[in-house]
Amino acid sequence: MSNDITWHNHKITAAQRAAQKHQRPAVLWYTGLSGSGKSTIANLVDEKLYKMGCHSFLLDGDNVRHGLNGDLGFSDADRVENIRRVIEVALLMSDAGLLVQTAFISPFAEDRTLAKARLSERMIEIYIDASLSACEARDPKGLYRKARDGVIKNFTGIDSDYDVPNNPDIIVNTVSLSADACAQEIVRFLVNKGWIGTGPAGA
Ligand code: ADX
Repeated sequence: MSNDITWHNHKITAAQRAAQKHQRPAVLWYTGLSGSGKSTIANLVDEKLYKMGCHSFLLDGDNVRHGLNGDLGFSDADRVENIRRVIEVALLMSDAGLLVQTAFISPFAEDRTLAKARLSERMIEIYIDASLSACEARDPKGLYRKARDGVIKNFTGIDSDYDVPNNPDIIVNTVSLSADACAQEIVRFLVNKGWIGTGPAGA
């Protein structure tokens, strides 16, 4: 970054913008294997929040890789850059007072630690727990098959690492619970912890 760039503090804070919407600025950071159910659950949460009158927005790995991150592949370095950009976008969108959801594999613990450092108390880490064998049996996009056949390289869980989160705020298991039950649990967490349905509040 150039030394000739100055940070401008804006008069209206993130907390004020969010309070206008009766919510607190938040980033629901989903992590889990491909096919674990991140996008499905985040979409259901998005729909429930919308119906409750909350202002949310979903940043989805597959979609963001069509545009903003269309120049990135699946090497370790590209995944790190993918997540770095998503963190910054989520930070900006939460500055606008939104409840942001990010649905990316985000396989590396180090990058999720970076997310926590940047997003601090706004970040709610959600582990979408489904075993590799369950995800592989689902194989909704046929990618595990291709990875096993060696057609796709560096596939998460096959020949690229996934670090299971140590201390996520929420864990939902999509083998034992339906996607809708998982989404309900997440929305309940937001209500119970005062992220939504609040007056002027939040950081
Ligand atoms: S991340 O690892 O950088 O966080 P991201 O969530 O953006 O990944 O993208 C994952 C999606 O890309 C998967 O759900 C899958 O559809 C697709 N994909 C294509 N190639 C790979 C790969 N080598 N590993 C994992 N996912 C892949």
